[in-house]
Amino acid sequence: MKVYLDNSATTAVEEEVLRAMLPYFSEEIGNAQSVHSFGRRAKAAVEHARRQVASLIKADPTEIIFLSGGTEADNLAIRGVAGAYSANGRHIITTRIEHPAVLAVCESLEREGFRVTYLPVGDCGSVSVESVRDAIASDTILISIMHANNETGALQPIEEIGRVIAEVRASGSAHLCFHTDAVQSVGKMAIDVDRLGVDLVSISAHKLHGPKGVGALYVRKGVRLAKLLYGGHHERDRRPGTENVTAIVGLGKAAEVALTRMEEMDRVRGLRDYFEQELRARISDVKINAGEVVRAPVISNITFRRIDGEALLIALDLRGIAASTGSACSSGSLEPSHVLTAMGLRRKDVLASLRFSLSRETTREEIDYTLRAIEEIVPGMRCLSEEDDMDEAEISLPVEYRS
Ligand SMILES: Cc1ncc(COP(=O)(O)O)c(C=O)c1O
Repeated sequence: MKVYLDNSATTAVEEEVLRAMLPYFSEEIGNAQSVHSFGRRAKAAVEHARRQVASLIKADPTEIIFLSGGTEADNLAIRGVAGAYSANGRHIITTRIEHPAVLAVCESLEREGFRVTYLPVGDCGSVSVESVRDAIASDTILISIMHANNETGALQPIEEIGRVIAEVRASGSAHLCFHTDAVQSVGKMAIDVDRLGVDLVSISAHKLHGPKGVGALYVRKGVRLAKLLYGGHHERDRRPGTENVTAIVGLGKAAEVALTRMEEMDRVRGLRDYFEQELRARISDVKINAGEVVRAPVISNITFRRIDGEALLIALDLRGIAASTGSACSSGSLEPSHVLTAMGLRRKDVLASLRFSLSRETTREEIDYTLRAIEEIVPGMRCLSEEDDMDEAEISLPVEYRS
């Protein structure tokens, strides 16, 4: 049996999405900027996709910019605001648990003289609204806080932070922008940009059963952005480059399908909760990370104490089950997840943690198969592992698993 529980890394392209895209690989070859009929049809397809994406987050189509994915959306949001508003201030607020597409951009801006506050999260995995309020200074131009964390699923209090920002703006700081990286929540939860009070939202198609290499940035009317790339006048002069019509059509269709199938997420949440409940009942010494806060319905991050997470990952892979660790492998040794570390987990617990991420395609049979596999593997691994000897030791992986 093959069980794919790594949907937060990427999802399978929905059949309906693929069908919508196919003509744009062959017959519909137009450049969306061309004036002839081929070009006009390509342009119409792009604009249709823009409306589909806008509907998913209750935005106006003119507020959607297509680009190459979540990473570019985060870069454009943060660098765009930093460049456009630096005369108003050079302070940015973010959190320690953001995706590298946010953290690395903030770090690069620090090297250019911006001041960045990296807010801590509690052991619950969520930032406090009060800490955001306290961090706002007269020179703060941007707050960038993700919606659902990609490792734990923990939702950040975006709506409440939006209200704090509205108060700050009402007292005179009109230039303060609010960005959320919603790559892991869009398509899995109802999102309304006005209710959240956000100005910029990052979206990636491949996390919602669309193709890889395409995404969108929502930019509220009136928000200025400095350019990241220079070239033609595409996307209202905000993102140059010939539109990837095929991929954009795929993103649009994926957004439409996500909206029509949103209620299926209740079933997925139920399946995720069942998975966690059964794990707790069948395996000793497991901890659900961020289990106490509201989470995106698809993610379960589990610490299997006294287990080498990489070894468990490989053992599951050998049984056809795909999950992931938050640990990045760099030069042969494991960098423990910055998210779990920020939540206060001990290094050995971080390295004993796995993420299982579901999708609307995940079935009860797949979850039961996974539970049985874990039940069979974990106790044996614990017997083998000498207590605490993983503490500071580097974990040696088979060559094919190093990256
Ligand atoms: C929260 C978050 N932001 C940004 C990204 C980057 O998106 P993309 O792969 O489309 O560049 C990811 C991908 O894992 C993510 O999980």
